[in-house]
Amino acid sequence: MFKKTLMAIAMSGTMVATSVQAGEVEVLHWWTSGGEARSIAVLKQMVEDAGHTWKDFAVAGGGGENAYTVLRSRAVSGNPPASAQIKGLEIQEWGDLGFLASLGQVAERNNWDDVLPAVVSDVMKHRGEYVAAPVNVHRVNWMWANPAVFENAGVSIPTTLEELWTAADQLQAAGVTPIAHGGQPWQDATTFESIVLAVGGADFFNDVFVEHNASALESDTMIQAFREFRKVKDYIDRGAPGRDWNVATSMVIRGEAAMQFMGDWAKGEFTAANMQPGSDYVCMAFPGTEGEFTFNIDSLAMFKQRTAANSEAQLKMAELVLSPEFQETFNLNKGSIPARTDMDMSKFDSCALASMDTFIATAESGQGLVPSMAHGMSTTSTVQGAIYDTVTEFFNSNMSAEDATTRLARAIRAAQ
Ligand code: GAL
Repeated sequence: MFKKTLMAIAMSGTMVATSVQAGEVEVLHWWTSGGEARSIAVLKQMVEDAGHTWKDFAVAGGGGENAYTVLRSRAVSGNPPASAQIKGLEIQEWGDLGFLASLGQVAERNNWDDVLPAVVSDVMKHRGEYVAAPVNVHRVNWMWANPAVFENAGVSIPTTLEELWTAADQLQAAGVTPIAHGGQPWQDATTFESIVLAVGGADFFNDVFVEHNASALESDTMIQAFREFRKVKDYIDRGAPGRDWNVATSMVIRGEAAMQFMGDWAKGEFTAANMQPGSDYVCMAFPGTEGEFTFNIDSLAMFKQRTAANSEAQLKMAELVLSPEFQETFNLNKGSIPARTDMDMSKFDSCALASMDTFIATAESGQGLVPSMAHGMSTTSTVQGAIYDTVTEFFNSNMSAEDATTRLARAIRAAQ
């Protein structure tokens, strides 16, 4: 029903003409944490330097659920913003509804097909045509650790799941909160998918989160993943429920917790706090996932415009997004790596270089590069929502791992 309404609006050409001035680009995003705000400010500056007006439309809420809700209501009222931070399969969903503008000419003029790896450009295209511009590639399966906290407690930073639980026990015995966690569905899902990767490996991850293969979903490996996930609960503090991800990062920054499991947007917070990787904080693959890469590509999709001036501003912004200058500055602030693989990486730190190496190696070998479920890369928003619900309910109840496995398989089937 909702889809039909949206499609009718997009097709009928009855979109309400916005009262915006020529050359304005309104951008909906959820980049409001310290590191995120510094990153998006780079684009604002560049758009303004190009002579256009930037209208900021920030909707707070990590992971973007709130932003997506607002986007839908703006679209339903026939007044979508010029551009929105839409990712992964959502791009296809909005493209199918007929809302998105083609970036074909900008892409061709600037050789996007040559500078972007296929794993990125595939996501940006709807029916073969560019409709979104990628700003970065985030790696999700990271662990952020405060080395001083580990050292003071005499504990080694873990590299496997087994070591993780041993380290967590030792940290707890030393009076430290081992894991900084924010109890929000998308954050639960972010940790859960890293555990699925650690327990089952990349092929299993794809069977579960991309293919939704019944035998993988109902397997003992899945039960094992839920069991491991439950253990996280023993090592988080009482303030975790509802906590924003960047508040959890600041616990690690301040030494109030030893580690956080989060994508490398967390690095943007360490950078904004003037901390240096290797000495002040440590980035390591989520325990048990070294050499694997869960990708999350942020992108700005462009909505059809009613005035030539606004279309021009929008196309200019798309061009700027792919410029090496933007890709460098934005990603230095954001914690991610550039979407372009032909970049000079000399200004990037050891975490970004490790990320780039693993990204390229996994993309070339075809082994270990997986799309993030928690961040909308692997499946539809409906299936993702069903997974979020089950994972969060499991985490916050006494549901057995066996029941969770059965329920997850059922929920995914129903949402497909
Ligand atoms: C992700 C997004 C990142 C980061 C994070 C927290 O979904 O891709 O860029 O912003 O949410 O808000």
